[in-house]
Amino acid sequence: MRIAAVPGSPLSGQVSLPGDKSISHRAALFAALADGESQVDNFLVAGVTQVMLEALSELGVAWKLEGSHLIVQGRAMYGGGQTEAVVLNCGNSGTTMRLLAGAVSALGIPVVLDGSPGLRSRPMKRIVEPLRAMGVLIEASPQNTAPLVINARSPGEKLKPLDYDLPIASAQVKTCLLLAALGANGPTVLREPGPSRDHTERMLRAMNVDLTRRAGITDNNHFAEVHLAPPENHDLSPLSIKIPGDISSAAFLIVAALITPGSRITIQGVGLNPTRTGLLDALQTMGADIKVSNQRHSHGEPMGDLEINYQPLLGTQISGSLVVRMIDEMPIFAIAAAHAQGRTVVSQAGELRYKESDRISDLCRELRRLGVKVEEKPDGFIISGGEGVRGGVVDSHGDHRLAMALVVAGLIAQETVVVQNSEIVGESFPGFREVLVDLGGDIHNG
Ligand code: S3P
Repeated sequence: MRIAAVPGSPLSGQVSLPGDKSISHRAALFAALADGESQVDNFLVAGVTQVMLEALSELGVAWKLEGSHLIVQGRAMYGGGQTEAVVLNCGNSGTTMRLLAGAVSALGIPVVLDGSPGLRSRPMKRIVEPLRAMGVLIEASPQNTAPLVINARSPGEKLKPLDYDLPIASAQVKTCLLLAALGANGPTVLREPGPSRDHTERMLRAMNVDLTRRAGITDNNHFAEVHLAPPENHDLSPLSIKIPGDISSAAFLIVAALITPGSRITIQGVGLNPTRTGLLDALQTMGADIKVSNQRHSHGEPMGDLEINYQPLLGTQISGSLVVRMIDEMPIFAIAAAHAQGRTVVSQAGELRYKESDRISDLCRELRRLGVKVEEKPDGFIISGGEGVRGGVVDSHGDHRLAMALVVAGLIAQETVVVQNSEIVGESFPGFREVLVDLGGDIHNG
């Protein structure tokens, strides 16, 4: 499939978005571990969460979707007594694979975690090594990639608690280890070198797990430390939550409005967890006009409404903890940078190479094809913006966020932007195209 986008009228209107991807993944999986029935409103029904739900079915968990309302019966994964490994297909979703690895490790259930060729090439050593240190019997390929084989433990055998410094700020790794720590025979302490998203900590606390998180900045270095004491008998309270709209999906509309002259849009009910709002901070330093109103909490997660008005932007510099707080937003941020006057420098962002595509080299290659001046660096990129986007035919590289970012680039291009292999957009933002068209975007089949 190909999507084509061209400049059109200003964007205007008001939208609400599907639920946050990270919170949806956690809600489905944690609910399966809880003691009773959980109710989850505004669950993200999309490719990435579908693989999580299907994996839970394979593990014997009963769940039901009524539109975007998810009902999960907890505890079904327990005491299955399986000795035969069940194969769980995680599709293209690193979150599904890494989170499931932690949960099944706690329970000692034998599984094989596998996925698409893309997922098979993503790094898994980051979870394999610490899980082994906890006593998990886990095997990976010689390159430390999937398929991952997790072997059964003897019934009742607990894992060892972990005291661990994460080498990278990764919420997927942190969550994997915290879930495994639920099955340990003592408290686990994790320290991370950056403020990775803390949805797991918030949700586990809401489920009555004894967990504390301390985070701050000392000598210009960010620190975050999480303590988790496993509950007796693995007791987690069921969830009853409404998931905020996904700020990572909102990001495409925010940038679309900021770069299309005359635009003014409102996005209601967006998640505003400070570990996720790096893009808003970055855009504001570039001169963006973004107003936050109606700030509130939904079950421990901050949220609010955003009003975005078109505004000329200036280049900026992004590094350190800001990169972590906008790690999924770099492809669309690059489009804002291409539009902004002057240089934008992104550094200390090497993790981008291990996402759904290599979000440094694939992003730079596709931007260059559109006529954007961009220089690839080992740990980021430099964009000389404000010189126009020419247009042309580009490819998604099987990456939903790269595909959506390139479609948005079409809104300011001199010629049509055609994005090949764009069916992938539904992976995390179902209705992306329809929402953009409703707001006034000129987007059609390429
Ligand atoms: C996620 C964490 C991030 C992010 C991914 C979702 C999560 O990955 O890129 O899309 O839900 O925990 P890392 O934790 O590996 O940086």
